[in-house]
Amino acid sequence: MITPQLAEFMRQMDQKSVAIIPGAREATRSNDTQYRFRQDSDFYYLTGFEEPEAIAVIAPGRAEKYTLFVRPRDPEQEIWVGRRAGVEGAKSDFGADQSFPIAEFDEKLQDMLDGAEKLYYRLGVHSDLDNKIISQISEMRAINRKPIHAPRTIIDPATIVHEMRVLKSPEEIELMQRAADIAAEAHVEAMKAVRPGMKEYEVEAMIEQVFRRHGAAGPAYTSIVGAGANATVLHYINNDGELNDGELLLVDAGAEYKGYASDITRTFPINGRYTKAQREIYDLVLETQMSCVEMVRPGVTHDELKAHSVEMLTEGMVRLGLLKGEPANLIKEEKYKQFYMHGLGHLLGIDVHDVGIYYYDKQSRALEPGVVMTIEPGIYVAPDTKDIPEQYLGIGVRIEDDVLCTANGPRVLTTKVPKDADEIEVLMAK
Ligand code: GLY
Ligand code: MN
Ligand code: MN
Repeated sequence: MITPQLAEFMRQMDQKSVAIIPGAREATRSNDTQYRFRQDSDFYYLTGFEEPEAIAVIAPGRAEKYTLFVRPRDPEQEIWVGRRAGVEGAKSDFGADQSFPIAEFDEKLQDMLDGAEKLYYRLGVHSDLDNKIISQISEMRAINRKPIHAPRTIIDPATIVHEMRVLKSPEEIELMQRAADIAAEAHVEAMKAVRPGMKEYEVEAMIEQVFRRHGAAGPAYTSIVGAGANATVLHYINNDGELNDGELLLVDAGAEYKGYASDITRTFPINGRYTKAQREIYDLVLETQMSCVEMVRPGVTHDELKAHSVEMLTEGMVRLGLLKGEPANLIKEEKYKQFYMHGLGHLLGIDVHDVGIYYYDKQSRALEPGVVMTIEPGIYVAPDTKDIPEQYLGIGVRIEDDVLCTANGPRVLTTKVPKDADEIEVLMAK
């Protein structure tokens, strides 16, 4: 009854090894109140266990392969903050071979480490746990006249777990499709409801209302709702400006559903009709975005995708008069970065900017079936830009979809929200 991910992790670990994987801790919001708990992504991926203060110890070569240290049941605490699986539940519901109260972790640590040649542990995340483990190992080294053996190598479990997380299983893809569907519905509702005079936070509320209504934990990252020139600020999250007639609204919002993120951006006209200048930039971004989505297939590298987006956007920006010169030179001199200054996209999964290596030995990684990534080119013309056609000042456009790479090419998870400008105008007119 362990997760298939944990079974695979054990298969890839060395037999004479042990892994220590800590869960997330509760975080104080202010004084004595806490943020809503979110489990550590790797811990969640391997164990499915969603409570704070837990540590998994995994030793594939031992009879007791899987140990969970958890908060014990506590009637008083459970009245105030909710049910706990406890030591028994860790075994019966989560498949641990043995389980102990988290308070016993320190005293059992030496036994857990003893005899393992390799320790899989990610240093540099929890300094107190780092110190505990390092001093335990150092103590064990000093006991050289007894049959106690400290691990000789410490290796980052991410070398296995993060590579596993890059390739999504059919079950994970189903959850990601659901996260995408919920976010798509939220974007559609926002498009239908937006009117001049509203505030950005009203749109944010509308979107996140849809997320929660469908059982999503909430947004997978702080929603970006930027009207007019706010759309040219890449990580704008104040969301307190006004929606003015004649301007665009950029909404970058995705839901987290059963631990998995979606990540969608749409840019649409506040009054329901794109102006000519808005439409020119919009169509250039859209054409680029769709062309990059089409390229998603096994063997294509992240760098090739990015280079293609740079080429298309740079040529288009020369046509519009945003850039002057030969596209090839403008690319070489990175002049396009004035208006397109971010990456084309990123891996997507339990983390919105998901884990996984983008470069092997300086070589850009190629896509494989099961990879999910975003494709999100944009053009951002700051309102104070000099020497460009005036009609483009203050226009920011990004279009972002979530794309699964399959053996047969791209499968877009976020098709349920329109991106064609005409289609958006029709939807907004309803
Ligand atoms: N919403 C964050 C991103 O698009 O990467
Ligand atoms: Mn993104
Ligand atoms: Mn986004």
